[in-house]
Amino acid sequence: MSVPRSEYLSKSWADGIFANRVLFITGGAGSIGSAQTRALVHLGADACIIGRNVEKTEKAAKEISRVRKGARVLGLGGVDVRSFDSLKAAADRCVKELGSIDYVIAGAAGNFIAPISGLSPNAFKAVIDIDTIGTFNTIKATIPYLIESAARNPNPNDDGTTGGRFLSVSASFHYTGMPLQAHVSAAKAAVDSLMASVALEYGPYGVTANCVVPGAIAGTEGMQRLASSKLDKSAANKGVPSGRWGNVRDIADATVYIFSDAGNYVNGTNLIVDGAGWRRQGGV
Ligand code: HXC
Repeated sequence: MSVPRSEYLSKSWADGIFANRVLFITGGAGSIGSAQTRALVHLGADACIIGRNVEKTEKAAKEISRVRKGARVLGLGGVDVRSFDSLKAAADRCVKELGSIDYVIAGAAGNFIAPISGLSPNAFKAVIDIDTIGTFNTIKATIPYLIESAARNPNPNDDGTTGGRFLSVSASFHYTGMPLQAHVSAAKAAVDSLMASVALEYGPYGVTANCVVPGAIAGTEGMQRLASSKLDKSAANKGVPSGRWGNVRDIADATVYIFSDAGNYVNGTNLIVDGAGWRRQGGV
């Protein structure tokens, strides 16, 4: 079934701006990840989607490849970001089959609602392993390819092409602290820190590293998990100054901006896309 462009991409962007570029994304079959991938593929990129679930990952790749005639979208299931070796093998295979890695999105994440008293040490560790260690593993597996891409596509470039860009999908919980989300809050604080370090270490090579910070995004697995709590439902209802829930297109458009020629000098920062919701979260 085809998804209308208006659901994953605004009209602001010109076709072909990511032609001959390759996206490598973890969590690319998820609600936000598939919208990000769809947007980049629509605008010319090929993509390699990484996921734990084989069927879900391959199905998403097949659906996204229909966005643009000639698009190549590889779905590599059975890859867990907690395993560096399997991630490295996936990155190498992506380059072998699609030719390069120009953009990386670290989108794989784990979440559930639990108070600290209900978190076993292993439960806390599970989220740190997926979000934080998973992001580190993704950086480690792809950074040599991003350095090569940045060298081929210096930013800014007269022809408007880009490459060598890393984006993590983070959260804003740690800006204020968040009840029932101590594990995710801690994990994402570390993700922010990793992106800052990549920006500093690899900025001189032309690589950029940033976070996109989604707010409450309607229809996502994350929201289904978080909104199942009465506490979070009421917080969300009164909490978005822009007066609406976010949608996956909001995050896809922010991603396109950061990877586009317009985002050349955006490095080591967090682009918060949440209708100012974080300013009222955590009881603030
Ligand atoms: C307390 C829980 C729990 C819960 C699991 N655990 N669910 N503890 N409350 N609701 C505990 C388990 O008992 C176990 O601890 C430990 O966590 C690991 O659980 P496993 O099931 O063995 O781990 P695993 O199969 O690796 O699954 C990881 C997971 C799972 C994080 C627990 O939910 C998962 O795979 N999630 C991936 C998909 C996902 O979460 N998507 C939403 C992302 S949204 P013990 O001690 O018993 O061994 C998102 C949004 C962020 O991240 C912010 C938005 C603004």
